[in-house]
Amino acid sequence: MTPKKTYITTPLYYVNASPHIGHAYTTLAADIYARWKRQKGETVHLLTGTDEHGSKIEQAAVAAGVSPQAYADKVSAEFRDLWAHLGVHFDDFIRTTEPRHKDRVQDAFRSLVASGDAYKGVYKGYYCVSCETYWTDTEAPEDEKAVRRCPNADCRKPLKLTEEESWFFKLSAYGPRLLDFYKAHPGFLQPSQRAKEIENFVAEGLRDLAISRSKVAWGVPVPDDAGHVVYVWFDALLNYATAAGWRPGDDAYKALWPADVHLVGKEIYRFHTVIWPAMLMALGVEPPKSVYAHGWWTVEGQKMSKSKDNFVDPREFTRKYGVDAFRYVLFREMPFGNDGDFSAEAFKKRYNADLANDLGNLVSRVTNMVDAYLDGALPGKPDPERSPVLKRALAASADIGESMDRLAFQDALNRIWAVVGELNLTVNDRKPWVMAKDPDKEPLKHLLFDLVGTLRVVAGWVTPFMPNKAAEMQMALGVRKFPGPLSVHEVLDGPAGHRIRKGAPLFPRMEEK
Ligand code: MSP
Repeated sequence: MTPKKTYITTPLYYVNASPHIGHAYTTLAADIYARWKRQKGETVHLLTGTDEHGSKIEQAAVAAGVSPQAYADKVSAEFRDLWAHLGVHFDDFIRTTEPRHKDRVQDAFRSLVASGDAYKGVYKGYYCVSCETYWTDTEAPEDEKAVRRCPNADCRKPLKLTEEESWFFKLSAYGPRLLDFYKAHPGFLQPSQRAKEIENFVAEGLRDLAISRSKVAWGVPVPDDAGHVVYVWFDALLNYATAAGWRPGDDAYKALWPADVHLVGKEIYRFHTVIWPAMLMALGVEPPKSVYAHGWWTVEGQKMSKSKDNFVDPREFTRKYGVDAFRYVLFREMPFGNDGDFSAEAFKKRYNADLANDLGNLVSRVTNMVDAYLDGALPGKPDPERSPVLKRALAASADIGESMDRLAFQDALNRIWAVVGELNLTVNDRKPWVMAKDPDKEPLKHLLFDLVGTLRVVAGWVTPFMPNKAAEMQMALGVRKFPGPLSVHEVLDGPAGHRIRKGAPLFPRMEEK
């Protein structure tokens, strides 16, 4: 049997508005992680897509004067185009309006009804249209103006008292099984500091979940019950399984399943760590291996919102700085898992300091010196014993790999830039331009070969973050195999006799206008 692929997913993004930097962040994280895994030789399957049902999208379509499907088609394509622009290498893009998904959502619904995990009742509660969520009177108490507002701190919109006939999922029955599952699978709740909150939430007791809506028209019809559509979250969560080909009684989806990591923003962590595994348990499907929640970006100190109209379009930065710089800055600037603030000023500083100066300039200097002093001749396999910088860099390799494995992207980049810093210091301390005056060229040659060898390794390390710039670096440094990511071993075993290929500066300095 072929080994199971490493299955990585992003959330399915709502199509009620155009993609912004927050969406790009999760998708790039998934792409960086997937590239890292591929570079290690794993077979990866990266899934992304769009979440297209529900009243939010219905309302946006009405406002735009088009059908929900036409609206979804347009915005879904914007997401797809942006991922292509950002160099995201996904293996599948699922839209919840596709038949391959909708049919299976209905299969899942039927299967829960048959097992008694779904039943019909009446739902009365306070409904938030924006979050598509019901709240109880204790969760959403009246404020000083006697208005009940959505308890979600990012929403706070007024709620509507609503009563409707509804299908329910027996979530309340799954509390104990979920708690056992978390205990038996300590890797499931990631990063681990988020585990306690979820365990406490489940331990307090779960309520059954309304999984159909009669007041919404735009959704997957509940099988055999006209007038109800499936609740958008029940529909959307299933995508991870439907895209893998899940259907009752067919095991083919196991080529991908269980998913290895669902990457999500922190605000949808509960849906993915409580409702989703309970749904899977009820369907007799193994829960995913892990769900990883990252933090949120604010912009210039503010939450991005419609009212402030301050959504950052990634293209504004890729136009100016290039795609690879954008991919780098997002992950160097804030630790994955925490919150952070995005600002144009901080972006420029980071770009100039780390990319234009530390790395770009270093590559230019080293290639220029090889050209000037060694007539462009590059080393083949370097001798680590005569290459002290390379030797120390290789000692950091395991650490960098371990950081990448636990999605600690900033830690990995900090480690890589420590090596870049050491390379710069070495150039400044050893002054190859002075050594070049010595008739004995051997020490100079060993020094430059050490620098080139280490830079080749650096190029390998930064490949998941900056695939294009890393390839340019490897070309300049005479690493033979191109294109494609190289393992450290391949980088070091490159044949001798290659020559430097000086190119344009990798990251031109961005000056004040
Ligand atoms: N459709 C649901 C998810 C269903 S998954 C089965 C949804 N969509 S969304 O369009 O609102 O996208 C939310 C995701 O976008 C977040 O989980 C996060 O990954 C990303 N981000 C949106 N804004 C963000 C920031 N300001 N900062 C970082 N990431 C953010 O929720």
